Amino acid sequence: MDGFRFDVQTSVYYGRNALQEHQDIFDNFGKKAVIVTSQFIEGYENIGLKDVKALFDERGIEYKVIDYTIPNPPVENIEQMYEDTKDFDFDFVIGIGGGSSLDAAKALAQLTDWRKDDPEKSAVDIFFGNGRPFDNYKNMCRIPVITMPTTAGTGSEVTGGAVLTRNDIHTKIAMNQWLYPEVSFVDPRYVEHSPLFLLDTGVIDALAHGVEGAIRQKDHIYAASNIMNEGLSKIAFKLFAEFKDNLLNDTLTAEDYDKISCASMIQGVAFMQSCTCIPHGLGYPLSHYYDVCHGLSCGIFLGEWLKNFKDQSLVQEVVEDCGFKNSDEFADYVRALTNRDVELEVTDAEIQEWTDAFMKQQVWRLESNPEELTREDIYTIYRRALAKYIKD
Ligand SMILES: [Fe+2]
Repeated sequence: MDGFRFDVQTSVYYGRNALQEHQDIFDNFGKKAVIVTSQFIEGYENIGLKDVKALFDERGIEYKVIDYTIPNPPVENIEQMYEDTKDFDFDFVIGIGGGSSLDAAKALAQLTDWRKDDPEKSAVDIFFGNGRPFDNYKNMCRIPVITMPTTAGTGSEVTGGAVLTRNDIHTKIAMNQWLYPEVSFVDPRYVEHSPLFLLDTGVIDALAHGVEGAIRQKDHIYAASNIMNEGLSKIAFKLFAEFKDNLLNDTLTAEDYDKISCASMIQGVAFMQSCTCIPHGLGYPLSHYYDVCHGLSCGIFLGEWLKNFKDQSLVQEVVEDCGFKNSDEFADYVRALTNRDVELEVTDAEIQEWTDAFMKQQVWRLESNPEELTREDIYTIYRRALAKYIKD
């Protein structure tokens, strides 16, 4: 059997009312907390925040709420959080919300921790510099982070990564220093009754994490697929296969929400071991230039990427695990979800530009793909996936 690396770091408490049932863990984290969250869409209540505030009041934990996380938080957003909390002398950070809030919680902890030693160090240096030895695979941050996802998809509740926007170089990029949450409370109640587009983007993001991770080339230097992540992904694919039709038909049951939350968390653990592949790279321009939600922008390319495999035997098992006969059927399903949520117009000139950028900037993704992909392949995947949106 091939050797592999597998990181196991976060204590996950999964289930309805997990926070209340396992509240004793807060005996370990001190008496002052910063809560990082975001403004919810009008008409939707942040039940997670309500639960945490009630619990902290009851347990005598002092807290400061930072509720202005911006989607794909820019470095400046985290700087503002730092300014607003640096004199609070907090013991831990709890992130409540979607991937952006959880990532912002990790970034705030990292920034605060580094500046205790070096108050003048720039945020860009801290997030994207060389870091401290071994930061890229081990928690070196002395401020613990707890996560409570209120969307299902990014898996950030259990991953070490945090994606931030760098306005100085116009891109989104993961922090160099990984920071795995100490504890995550994964409660499906928070995901229940989310707006449909949020469910769609989350489910497709989690699906993409599993699919891209499971069929990556096995001997790639950055992170190889292995029996652990492949096995975990299989469990989550099975859950997906069980709720996928109800999601498409907008007839989700309480049990389906349980599965959606669980599948997202599982795929988060899985893809931290093997990373993502081509569709995640193809999706960047859509979210960067057109504000298409992350999961939807990856999902648009997921089906066409699978269909583009010349050797379909490389993807058939994963496709079947997800409950589809073949990659055509898989692509049809994902297209139905993305079509109902994404409206945009793109030109062939843009696609040419994105193709060139992909070939230049995403070399490691090309190297990790199980089959060789030419510029023509990438252009074709872009054209086919975006056919409905091309205006010239
Ligand atoms: Fe993703």
